[in-house]
Amino acid sequence: MKKLIIINGPNLNLLGKRETNIYGNLSFTEFFDTIVNKYPNISLEHYQSNIEGELIDKIQEVGFDYDGIILNAAAYTHTSVGIGDVVKAIETPVIEVHISNTFNREEFRHKSYISPNSKGVILGFGLQSYELAILSFLD
Ligand code: DQA
Repeated sequence: MKKLIIINGPNLNLLGKRETNIYGNLSFTEFFDTIVNKYPNISLEHYQSNIEGELIDKIQEVGFDYDGIILNAAAYTHTSVGIGDVVKAIETPVIEVHISNTFNREEFRHKSYISPNSKGVILGFGLQSYELAILSFLD
């Protein structure tokens, strides 16, 4: 059984309440429950933190034995050399995911410290971006 984890960064705990015109009305928990039921043959976990160092600790913890990490580092995508470095340091492949299309938003969202060290990037498909990333890990 494939072992995958979705790691979400700051403010993604507010999905469903936050800027719903951009991020939609569904909470991440509601979305996650649907996905877990839809893919019973995958071991799928979810971790969220608003704290940069906690995200780095989690990526280090899972990054040598999980089959895949689906990472939405949210605002830290555009600022964090530390998260970029840990994605490079680990062995587990990382798919960078964003709900919105960061390239049709403000210029500061066009820069990513994660992309150069990711296996791939999926963005702009709403919450479906996460599901597309999961599918990319299946045979
Ligand atoms: C985001 C895009 C980021 O620019 C932003 O800071 C987020 C969410 C997305 O999923 O679209 O918090 O990562």
